[in-house]
Amino acid sequence: MAEECKMADALMEAWREFTLSAEQFGRIVEDFAASIEDGLSQRPSPLQMLPAYIGRPAGDEAGVYLSLDFGGTNLRVAEVELAGKNKPSIRKLHRVSLKDADAGYDYTGADTNVRDLFAFIARQVAAVAGGQERLLGHSFSYASRQTALGRASFLGWAKEIKVSGLAGQDINDLLAEELARQQAAAVRPVAVLNDTTATLLAAAYLCPDADLGSVCGTGHNTAYYEPQSRYGEPDRVMAYNPESGGFDRLSRSRFDEELDRDSDSPGRQRLEKMVAGRYLGELVRRILQAGRGDCGMQFIDEIPCLSHPDGLSSVDVAWFVGDRSKELEHIDAWLKEKLPGRPASLAERHFIKAVAELVAERAATLVAASYAGFLRRLDPQRRRRHAIGVNGSLYEKMPGFAEGIQAALTRFGGWPATQVEFLVVEEAPLVGAAIAAAIAGREEATR
Ligand code: BGC
Repeated sequence: MAEECKMADALMEAWREFTLSAEQFGRIVEDFAASIEDGLSQRPSPLQMLPAYIGRPAGDEAGVYLSLDFGGTNLRVAEVELAGKNKPSIRKLHRVSLKDADAGYDYTGADTNVRDLFAFIARQVAAVAGGQERLLGHSFSYASRQTALGRASFLGWAKEIKVSGLAGQDINDLLAEELARQQAAAVRPVAVLNDTTATLLAAAYLCPDADLGSVCGTGHNTAYYEPQSRYGEPDRVMAYNPESGGFDRLSRSRFDEELDRDSDSPGRQRLEKMVAGRYLGELVRRILQAGRGDCGMQFIDEIPCLSHPDGLSSVDVAWFVGDRSKELEHIDAWLKEKLPGRPASLAERHFIKAVAELVAERAATLVAASYAGFLRRLDPQRRRRHAIGVNGSLYEKMPGFAEGIQAALTRFGGWPATQVEFLVVEEAPLVGAAIAAAIAGREEATR
């Protein structure tokens, strides 16, 4: 019983650190909107505000294009058919991992040269192209500074990739050179864009109200259409990639601070480290570790994935959050599999579930606050309808995550579901990259 009281105390403490008040939410919205303005005006800002050199699709873009989605350790290459007003279709899809121990390769580590990585990518593209002439759009899920729709110099890796030698290089030049080496010069990389910009394009192609495109997956970021043309090209809106995962005007718990301190990139990507799939498991693990002694849950030390950094994944968190059974049987089964000899009590299972829920709910609320920050800039009088294109495993698979974002946006942000719609476009980064290739092709033809 005494231990159950301590669990309640530990939970209360975590609850205090992980729950946002309406006032805190409102402050984040203000700071976020101010950071957008600062970044666009070249004042110091946690948001990089990188112009994407692409506007809204006309909606009648058509044809067959190649898309490359370079978003993490998995690479995807697709042949996408755009048919104007109709839903885009993926005609071929090739997925491959950048590392495969059985096949004896790993193109993600610091000892990999960027040429070898891009040669590998080019081989995958060449296989899908099958000798055809195609324009290619490249959805690249890392920070890069674009100077035109087809040109982007690399700024920095995030997530798990550490490959050396890309700093400052033009991403599409490198890809084009390696494609030529693979006898696939008929494939021309004409557009390179962040995965959030691609998600925004895919949503805007189908829905004229779309003005935000967001990724809630391993990483986190949101792109948007900037309406004030003084920052973009004179006569049209332009998409911007703010690298919003870098937003840092946030009050952090001691767990966030410790996770950040021990990460590969201390001080960077602070919002991302509180909301993205790459980190949610680790936050849960740290809270459970900290509470285990007081709560009589020392058995946690015997479960390897709970005692090693990064041992717990967001898939585990989703499993805990999604256990709606009365006796928390799914969590029980999970624990039994990890530690067969030590049955966990119902109170202990509830403790695990409650911690997972706290972390996941806070992530959804913070993401909602950032969306409200964008909406405040786009529509301060709250006059229009908006659509937010969203992509990513966390949004699609974490139980209650999508609902949590919408609920916080309504409750704290004052944006009702009738005014802000969420759109999940199937394979949005691939579709968006194809749309970008089509737009680039059109621009080339009219030049
Ligand atoms: C990257 C962004 C990307 C996001 C979502 C972040 O780690 O810095 O460029 O958009 O992940 O994939």
